[in-house]
Amino acid sequence: MFSFQSKKIYLFMFMGIQLVVIALLSREAYKKRVTYFIPILRKDNASIPTGRNQTSTAVVANGGDVYANLSRLSKAHSQGENLTYCPKTSPLIVGRINVRIHSNFTMQEVQRKNPLVVRGGRYRPPDCEARHRTAIIIPYRDREHHLKVLLYFLHPFLQRQQLNYGFYVIHQAGNYTFNRAKLMNVGFREAMKEEDWDCLFFHDVDLIPEDDRNTYMCDTNPKHAAIAMDKFGYKLPYKMYFGGVSALSPLHYLKMNGFPNNYWGWGGEDDDIGVRVSLAGMSISRPSLKVGRYKMIKHKLDKGNDVNPKRFNMLAKTRQTWKQDGMNTVEYRVISREYHPLYTNITVDIGTEAGLPPPPPPPPKAAAMSATQKV
Ligand SMILES: *[C@@H]1O[C@H](CO)[C@@H](O)[C@H](O)[C@H]1NC(C)=O
Ligand SMILES: *[C@@H]1O[C@H](CO)[C@@H](O)[C@H](O)[C@H]1NC(C)=O
Ligand SMILES: *[C@@H]1O[C@H](CO)[C@@H](O)[C@H](O)[C@H]1NC(C)=O
Ligand SMILES: *[C@@H]1O[C@H](CO)[C@@H](O)[C@H](O)[C@H]1NC(C)=O
Ligand SMILES: *[C@@H]1O[C@H](CO)[C@@H](O)[C@H](O)[C@H]1NC(C)=O
Ligand SMILES: *[C@@H]1O[C@H](CO)[C@@H](O)[C@H](O)[C@H]1NC(C)=O
Ligand SMILES: *[C@@H]1O[C@H](CO)[C@@H](O)[C@H](O)[C@H]1NC(C)=O
Repeated sequence: MFSFQSKKIYLFMFMGIQLVVIALLSREAYKKRVTYFIPILRKDNASIPTGRNQTSTAVVANGGDVYANLSRLSKAHSQGENLTYCPKTSPLIVGRINVRIHSNFTMQEVQRKNPLVVRGGRYRPPDCEARHRTAIIIPYRDREHHLKVLLYFLHPFLQRQQLNYGFYVIHQAGNYTFNRAKLMNVGFREAMKEEDWDCLFFHDVDLIPEDDRNTYMCDTNPKHAAIAMDKFGYKLPYKMYFGGVSALSPLHYLKMNGFPNNYWGWGGEDDDIGVRVSLAGMSISRPSLKVGRYKMIKHKLDKGNDVNPKRFNMLAKTRQTWKQDGMNTVEYRVISREYHPLYTNITVDIGTEAGLPPPPPPPPKAAAMSATQKV
């Protein structure tokens, strides 16, 4: 009995020490690291959802259901020849959407719930001509669960806004350290090849918007949309923060030479992008805290996305480097382009710090044939 109690005391002491460590870490604003530890503390009782195989984490909207009234749109009156422009403010917008996480659906069900989305994750309003064309660019690797949840919410969300939109998942091939910003450069170029998008939304796969007045269209300045995330207490963590979800027109993007290509691993690149915005003579626009709300799907730090230790040194040099590193120097190789019902999957080899690997040798058969032809 006694030993049981003293064990308990040690346990509490241990947890106290952990709390202090957490407090110290959070003072240093190690954003994602902290959110990694917090669920561990909560573990006392219920099993916490960690990892990707979360059997009971998906998404259910209560209250303002994100799918409410969308079924009234039908294919029936689509493809009319002379559609008039959609109204400036969509009548389908309801405001707050209650995002509750829980996992009980398949990708096929998401598809069924979004019957007007066509190959590659494209959509246009059936009853009017959209005023805006928005591409959603998602830097991605190995997050199937998150992608499913995002698609479940974001498709109807965008339909409420009467946008002409497309979904691009930019998948980093191989196991080398993740490079979010470079993938976004790839996404920009590949998406613009397909369509004359007038706005690009660079979107983390694990962020779900909670208010459909947060319109996915571009402003006159680059827009930071994910201003109020649940993990930061629905506040902006610091003034120059530009992470999570941001929106740039092609003109903005080229003016700031896109994003940096050399941030491998977690952290820094979003601040670099924020700095580029001002170096290029633009400012950051933001929705209100009330509207720019997002919920983050919980997860562990990913393998292959360790904290980038060089990020502060690199950030200090952005002023010197932004013109030499970005859209004008991005190198990659497209490995495949798949058109899924709810998204386009572009798999790319973006190489390493050392650059791209040499192109793969021609298949042995062809090589053998050309050899024999020479003979
Ligand atoms: C966990 O919580 C449940 C009720 O919420 C309680 O019955 C159970 O005893 C708790 N378990 C532990 C280990 O605290
Ligand atoms: C989750 O785990 C179960 C059993 O552990 C497995 O059958 C299932 O396929 C897994 N699901 C995913 C999405 O990995
Ligand atoms: C569409 O517009 C054209 C010319 O503007 C007109 O001739 C045609 O009848 C219209 N079609 C419909 C379905 O209104
Ligand atoms: C959605 O449908 C309900 C019931 O038909 C209606 O009361 C509500 O006004 C509709 N909302 C919008 C935004 O159309
Ligand atoms: C999951 O869906 C099935 C069928 O739609 C339903 O019976 C079940 O209650 C749901 N589970 C949860 C946890 O919502
Ligand atoms: C990546 O890692 C997995 C296991 O961790 C391994 O099976 C796979 O072959 C690796 N892929 C490459 C391209 O190295
Ligand atoms: C994208 O395509 C690659 C290559 O076929 C595949 O390995 C990967 O699983 C796909 N990802 C998604 C989310 O569809």
